Amino acid sequence: MAPHATPTRAAAILDAAEPVPLAVWPCAQTTGHIQRAGRYLPESTTHPAKMLPELARRITGEYAPPGGLVVDPMCGIGTTLVEAATQGRRSVGVELEPRWADLARRNLGLALPPEHAGLGEVRVGDARHLPELLADLVGTVDLVATSPPYACTPGMIDKPAWRQGGALARRDTENYSADRGNLGHARGQAYLAEMATVYAGCLQLLRPGGLLVTVTRNLRRQGRVFDLAGQTVRLAEQAGYQYLQHLVALLAAVRDSALHARPSFWQLTQTRRARQRGEPASLLAHEDVLVFQRPLTSGSPPATNQADAAADPQRRQPGPSTLDGPPPALPSGAGSHRPLGGGR
Ligand SMILES: C[S@@+](CC[C@H](N)C(=O)[O-])C[C@H]1O[C@@H](n2cnc3c(N)ncnc32)[C@H](O)[C@@H]1O
Repeated sequence: MAPHATPTRAAAILDAAEPVPLAVWPCAQTTGHIQRAGRYLPESTTHPAKMLPELARRITGEYAPPGGLVVDPMCGIGTTLVEAATQGRRSVGVELEPRWADLARRNLGLALPPEHAGLGEVRVGDARHLPELLADLVGTVDLVATSPPYACTPGMIDKPAWRQGGALARRDTENYSADRGNLGHARGQAYLAEMATVYAGCLQLLRPGGLLVTVTRNLRRQGRVFDLAGQTVRLAEQAGYQYLQHLVALLAAVRDSALHARPSFWQLTQTRRARQRGEPASLLAHEDVLVFQRPLTSGSPPATNQADAAADPQRRQPGPSTLDGPPPALPSGAGSHRPLGGGR
């Protein structure tokens, strides 16, 4: 933000010379393939549910201060870590599967010059045990940024097999691994309870005022929408966070004032099938980016799981609106406008 002659707080926040950031982020002006080309190892394509680098770059650039500490508790091939570290943030990832953790480490190695190798680190472990796994970081993290499993079945598309009447996704690639401890397998109440534990652990990692940004997608199942964004807001509030903002990450490209969809083959096929069944399905062109804050002052201790939260009705109330209390202490540089980084 530009320096101001009389630096009142209002003037610092509302600088008319600077465009106010939009809450819609065009993250797919180029394809994921192009965004990763040369910056990620080619074998990164073997992970079935990666975040778009442009989305991770925006989250870490907007919500973590330069030099700040970013954690991704379910880091996959390390997209969040790579984008954070290449913007000068220290990043630590946790991943259950040694295979993806190894790939995340190697992606960091590709992205970072040797003298900056210390900016990125990956630990193999279970995100349900973050305070133990990252005991050295408790209370110090500026930003937890993650994209959890979506309570659906990700898998690698096998077009040739599908064209010959086989399954669309290879069974051996479903849910990230065959390990039942992988939350890719969790559904329904079990999924919500496991994610409540993860978010409670993230809260312990964050410094007071630190932010959690989680990316979700509302998917259709058997003709009905599973409102994962809404469920995630409830889980986070029950865990003790304040809900700050909802952004829309566009998965379609903006061209000549129109949106041009970039659906995966799987999504296109599923949507076409739903429409053939008579369901008014449409292609999903966005993901939900949900921003929460660890309160600056500690109130009642957060619920550590769904059962605790359900037993205490006070915890089921939304946290105080940020308009009612003092504005959240966003990291310096947060909210500043950045140009699109197409073709990175
Ligand atoms: C949606 S993917 C995240 C992808 C990541 N943002 C990227 O761009 O590569 C979710 C990841 O969570 C991991 N995961 C699932 N259960 C986990 C657990 N209990 N602890 C740690 N990681 C877990 C999966 O193996 C998967 O890699």
